[in-house]
Amino acid sequence: MADDRVKNRGFRTRLSHGGRAGTHVHGFVNPPLLRGSTVLYPNMTERRASQTKRLEQELVYGIMGSETHFMLEDMIAGIEGGTRCQIVGSGLAAVTTPLLAYLKTGDHCLMPDSVYGPARNFCDRFLCDYGVETTYYRPEIDERGMAELIRPNTKVVYTESPGSHTFEVQDVPAIARAAHARGAHVLMDNTWGLRFFQPFAHGVDVSIQALTKYAGGHSDIMLGSVTTNSDADWEKVRGAALLLGQYASPDDCWLALRGLRTLAVRQDAQMQAGVTVARWLAGRPEIKQVLHPALPDAPGHVLWKRDFTGAASLFGVVFQPEYSVAATHAFVEALELFGIGASWGGYESLAVPTTGFLTRSAGTGDFGGAAVRLHIGLEEPADLIADLERGLVALRTHRD
Ligand SMILES: Cc1ncc(COP(=O)(O)O)c(C=O)c1O
Repeated sequence: MADDRVKNRGFRTRLSHGGRAGTHVHGFVNPPLLRGSTVLYPNMTERRASQTKRLEQELVYGIMGSETHFMLEDMIAGIEGGTRCQIVGSGLAAVTTPLLAYLKTGDHCLMPDSVYGPARNFCDRFLCDYGVETTYYRPEIDERGMAELIRPNTKVVYTESPGSHTFEVQDVPAIARAAHARGAHVLMDNTWGLRFFQPFAHGVDVSIQALTKYAGGHSDIMLGSVTTNSDADWEKVRGAALLLGQYASPDDCWLALRGLRTLAVRQDAQMQAGVTVARWLAGRPEIKQVLHPALPDAPGHVLWKRDFTGAASLFGVVFQPEYSVAATHAFVEALELFGIGASWGGYESLAVPTTGFLTRSAGTGDFGGAAVRLHIGLEEPADLIADLERGLVALRTHRD
């Protein structure tokens, strides 16, 4: 089915049928994987013509991408509700590439205090050496608060909602209004909200995804995307990506395209399981607070309900203050089904002590207890709950 006939169909239909129009080779359902560096031209006329295609999505030389990249870019642009997308080699590259595209010496950048740690490191250990100043703001900031922080040289207002360790939900439309009124670009790490938050409908200019997470879905690829909603923004981002030599493995792009076919069913199952487990934890006396935006008592729930259509299966638990950090580590170690590991969005459950509190500069992030971040995979929720019960026994019986 041609892609333009799929465009207006339901989301699952688009995931099944998008990104493979005209790609049938020997009748196979899936598109072929195209790898390569050198592209051969039949004559000098076509070679010369190719050299004028500086930014286009065309086969010119390996680094410009191949159909495998372009199909994934079109799929992600569709899911994010933007017009065009640039694939890069990791989620972190999807963070750093647009920051480099929009910031230069003398500029100012506003980052939420809850931002993904390596994004913070990039500002504090790299951009600062190039004369770009970063200010960290309270993630819950409102329009007026944001307006007060924006300076004449503020070029980027960055958002990440919810924060991927501490789950503060941001008022993105209010932040975007304040930014746009003062000429700043709004960048958003929308990885948690993939499919559930439409960034461009909420005022975002550039949406960042770590496709490593739910798009890949199987914990075996590294990939990122930067999606824009205007040709000017796309040219800026793609131009920076090419100047920096950003490249993504076509093998990983192909796996992400395959992962996307089942994105909705995986996300729906994981969302449901995540809420089930989060609710169970919220009822436990050892737990002070569950940081899951879909739970009515959680911080940010009202904004989540207003702006999101669903939830990722990644959330935090804050333990009662009587439990030490070492006791929460004993909790994590006692779990048999939850792996101890970073990342998320795969089919398997994970648990890591929360580090998002540690590097704050705007006085935020104190939840009054040690915390752990949980990712809920595709296992039976009842088995995960039994596992967590085992962890809570280890927590209670731990002696420092
Ligand atoms: C919110 C968020 N953004 C970006 C990234 C970076 O993605 P990657 O691991 O693909 O570099 C991560 C990784 O954990 C993340 O959680």
